[in-house]
Amino acid sequence: MAESEQRTDGDTVLRAGVIGWPIEHSKSPIIHGYWLERYGVNGRYDKIAVSPDQLDTSITDFIAQGYRGWNVTLPHKETMFGLVSDLDPAAQRIRAVNTVVVGQDGALTGMNTDGYGFITNLMQSIPAWQPQTCQALIIGAGGAARAAIDALIQQNVKKIWVTNRTAEKADALVQDFAQYASCLSTVAWGKTADIAAQTTLLVNTTSLGMVGQPALNVEDVQFLPEGAIVYDLVYAPLQTELLQTARACGLQTVTGIGMLLHQAVPGFSAWFGQKPEVTEDLLQKLLSS
Ligand code: ATR
Repeated sequence: MAESEQRTDGDTVLRAGVIGWPIEHSKSPIIHGYWLERYGVNGRYDKIAVSPDQLDTSITDFIAQGYRGWNVTLPHKETMFGLVSDLDPAAQRIRAVNTVVVGQDGALTGMNTDGYGFITNLMQSIPAWQPQTCQALIIGAGGAARAAIDALIQQNVKKIWVTNRTAEKADALVQDFAQYASCLSTVAWGKTADIAAQTTLLVNTTSLGMVGQPALNVEDVQFLPEGAIVYDLVYAPLQTELLQTARACGLQTVTGIGMLLHQAVPGFSAWFGQKPEVTEDLLQKLLSS
């Protein structure tokens, strides 16, 4: 009998999980485990190590075992994009999948909820944020940058500059998104001082500033205009050097942990049939984990 068919108190145990390689560091089980308990869902959320060469066969196994779906983390987000039969619009534009939902017929729908998490966290942290006047500088051109940029485009922001250590990656990103917006351009790495005075939202999407990584060069922050927002997707530490500098300059700041929490909401809703709430209690639980 497939494991999903095991019965507990007469009910089917709904199964979901997160796959990645490595996976040990993932905080998703804490988030989903918290919600499963809070909403009394008869379900489980597993942490599953899947190496790149096992991805195909693992997916077949998960479907056979009755999984409702799973989250996808490094390094599988781009590969999963090519393995699903349906894509939601965000995944289509970002060209990466972080959430998979298994349909009744076993067909897979790939979603990308990172942009949703990014923008929901921004709007909840700074309710007065005005997209129509927003001029954003995105630092980095990887998967997280693509999700953030997609979400900003969906909000019709005025301008998006992208700067990245590897210029070709920033060029490719801008080219990919040119079909959705005309407000994107690149700025050479280390040459952002000139646009700092016009930047109303600065977003670090790189791993710079993370525990064990070098800090991001934060010189430009002092040139940002009054009222500008600095948003760091790094959440370990929570108050990065970038955010500390921004605060010292009197700027508004947004931490990255809320993006992690909010991106989990659509997956939980789809698998377990209940839209969960991101609460202060959950945030504290995550921070103390
Ligand atoms: P993610 O999915 O988290 O965005 P990613 O796709 O691997 O991860 O992208 C990592 C981003 O961080 C890239 O923009 C990368 O720059 P490169 O394209 O030049 O590699 C950036 N990054 C990582 N380490 C960096 C460092 N030491 N200095 C500058 N940028 C760095």
